[in-house]
Amino acid sequence: MSRIIVFGGHGRIALLLAPLLVARGDEVTAVIRNPAHADEVAATGATPVVADIENADAAAVAALVSGHDAVVWSAGAGGGDADRTYAVDRDAAIRTMDAAEGAGVRRYVMVSWIGSVADHGVDPDSSFFAYADAKWQADEHLAGSALEWTILGPGTLTFDAPSGRIQLDETGTGSVSRADVAAVIAQTLVETATIGRTIRFGNGIGGSPEPIDAALRG
Ligand SMILES: NC(=O)c1ccc[n+]([C@@H]2O[C@H](COP(=O)([O-])OP(=O)(O)OC[C@H]3O[C@@H](n4cnc5c(N)ncnc54)[C@H](OP(=O)(O)O)[C@@H]3O)[C@@H](O)[C@H]2O)c1
Repeated sequence: MSRIIVFGGHGRIALLLAPLLVARGDEVTAVIRNPAHADEVAATGATPVVADIENADAAAVAALVSGHDAVVWSAGAGGGDADRTYAVDRDAAIRTMDAAEGAGVRRYVMVSWIGSVADHGVDPDSSFFAYADAKWQADEHLAGSALEWTILGPGTLTFDAPSGRIQLDETGTGSVSRADVAAVIAQTLVETATIGRTIRFGNGIGGSPEPIDAALRG
C-alpha cells in the first residue's frame, strides 16, 4: 500500500488512474480546485482535497504533499493563456517538486508530453509555445532534483478504450489513450526500473506495442 497524491485529481487521466490505484490498495489523495467536483472524485475511491495549485504558496503545497509516499503530477492549465500556462504547468509543478523534496516524499511521477525536449522546435509565436516551454522547464527541474523521478511523455491523448499495450517512441509523434496513460502511471509507481528515466510512448504506429509492464521494464 502506498499513499499517493495526484495533482489534477479531476483531470481526465486522473479520474481513470484513481480506481486503478485504489483497487490495488493504495490510498489516493486527489487535489482538485473546484469543490463541485468532490463527489465525482470521491466516487473513484480517492479522497478529494480542494486547493488552487496556481495560487497555493510553498507552505500550502508542503502541507498537501506531506505524509505521502509519491506525487503524481497530472494537472495542466489546458493551453490558451500563456501566463496561466506558465503559472500551472511550470511554476506550480515546480513548487510540488520542491515541496516533495522538502517533505521527504521521494517518488515523483510527472505527466509531461512526448515532444518535451530542449529543442522542441515550437515557434515562439505559436500559442503552443508557452506549453512546450513550461513543460520542458518543469521536466528539467525535476530531472535535476534529488527525487526518485520519472517523466512520462505520452503522445496525443485520445479517449480510446485501454489496450494495455504501449510502444516506447522517441520520434515525438503518435497518440495514446488516456486509459493506457493511467495504467502506465500506475505501473510506473511500482516499477523501480522507471526511476530516473524519461519515457516517451504511444499506442504504437506500425510497430509492435508491448504489454505495459514489459515496456516499462526497459
Ligand atoms: N492533450 C494532449 O494531447 C496531451 C498529450 C500529452 C500530455 N498531456 C498532458 O497530460 C496532462 C493530463 O491530461 P488530461 O487529459 O487528464 O488533462 P485535463 O483533463 O485537462 O486535467 C488537468 C487538470 O488540471 C487541473 N487544474 C488546472 N489548473 C488547476 C489549478 N490551478 N489548481 C488545481 N487543479 C488545476 C484541472 O482542473 P479542472 O478539472 O478544475 O479544470 C484538470 O482537472 C495534461 O495536463 C497535459 O500536460 C496532454
